Amino acid sequence: MKVLAVLALVAAAAPFLRAAGQGGEGDGAGPLPFAVGAAPAGCDIGQGEWVRDEAARPWYQEWECPYIQPQLTCQAHGRPDKGYQNWRWQPRGCSLPSFNATMMLEMLRGKRMLFVGDSLNRGQYVSLLCLLHRAIPDGAKSFETVDSLSIFRAKDYDATIEFYWAPMLAESNSDDAVVHRVDDRVIRGAPMDKHSRFWQGAHILVFNSYLWWTAEDKIKILRGADNDLSKDIVEMKAEEAYRLVLYQVVRWLERNADPKNSRAFFVTASPTHTDSAAWGDEAEGGNCYNQTTPIGDASYWGSTSREMLRVTEEVLATSRVPVGVVNITQLSEYRRDGHTQTYKRQWSEPTPEQRADPRSYADCTHWCLPGVPDTWNELLYWKLFFPSNDQAL
Ligand SMILES: *[C@@H]1O[C@H](CO)[C@@H](O)[C@H](O)[C@H]1NC(C)=O
Ligand SMILES: *[C@@H]1O[C@H](CO)[C@@H](O)[C@H](O)[C@H]1NC(C)=O
Ligand SMILES: *[C@@H]1O[C@H](CO)[C@@H](O)[C@H](O)[C@H]1NC(C)=O
Repeated sequence: MKVLAVLALVAAAAPFLRAAGQGGEGDGAGPLPFAVGAAPAGCDIGQGEWVRDEAARPWYQEWECPYIQPQLTCQAHGRPDKGYQNWRWQPRGCSLPSFNATMMLEMLRGKRMLFVGDSLNRGQYVSLLCLLHRAIPDGAKSFETVDSLSIFRAKDYDATIEFYWAPMLAESNSDDAVVHRVDDRVIRGAPMDKHSRFWQGAHILVFNSYLWWTAEDKIKILRGADNDLSKDIVEMKAEEAYRLVLYQVVRWLERNADPKNSRAFFVTASPTHTDSAAWGDEAEGGNCYNQTTPIGDASYWGSTSREMLRVTEEVLATSRVPVGVVNITQLSEYRRDGHTQTYKRQWSEPTPEQRADPRSYADCTHWCLPGVPDTWNELLYWKLFFPSNDQAL
């Protein structure tokens, strides 16, 4: 009788429990740090569909999360619709446990989690703070930003969740966390320790880098140690410069990350929706402005560079330490409705001509919160706690 009851329990939990001794992400070296279970075999969480879920989404309200920067508070800036908040991502053919803030905080006890990248990664970081902070009483949490580093502390858990601004991961002329709008991209070839010394000792690292490589075809690389742009400079195709930098990040992880106590992830490209012709809109000059529903065509793919994605895939595949890929690209491609449009704090006041045609200054790159980045964190949660035994997924 007792044995039967235990068997029944195991059977109920079976889809997610990792069999003892089983590897993670295919390396056969024992379970990955932070894993409490495994994704069902063959489950590719990046493929699936958006399902309307007004009962369970959004997970939090814009006004109750104090960490959202004014560039992402769409309701506060007059966005008339709210439907973009009510979508849940359903992977095809499999389901995983839903996001549990208390569980995640318990797992982060005594740990340091760090996001490194650009404004899209910062959006994901803030989304995670919004998802977690309600489980922490006031007075037991703090948030501060000094230069390129933001630190959220959950005091009772002795945990920090941090963001480090490095949009091209390598040292670049876009490194100022506030003033970084430059036309000519210049990166330093090596070393990368100006940034990476801040990454040292993190238990969970979440990188992204895509957008800043796509503005121009070529990127300048400074090879010497000084800042003199007149010497020791080479120009490279953006994809090749990106490949070079990703290699350095992977080599840095191999030398510095402790695979027994830490995990690293790379979040793939966040797509933009700057041309509505891409989804068959016949009106001229349209973009994400006024879009209120996701794209229904499962095969939709916009302007995201397949070549850049290939570089990401190829370089990460060379890593001798596991690097999880959080593949957000396809699911975000469908979300033409999720961007901040004109409903955000503007860098400069729109001109009367711009106001006459809001499409002309709509932001079709960044995402409202709550919104699409909450789902990126759900994928990250699954990858961290329920990793697949198949590295590619
Ligand atoms: C969330 O996780 C906590 C701690 O592991 C657990 O006690 C709680 O039951 C979980 N909540 C849900 C809804 O599963
Ligand atoms: C946006 O939608 C409003 C309301 O449906 C409509 O009046 C307006 O013409 C639309 N603007 C654009 C640029 O499509
Ligand atoms: C992410 O998914 C897209 C399409 O689903 C695929 O083309 C791409 O190769 C994937 N990227 C990585 C790094 O796995």
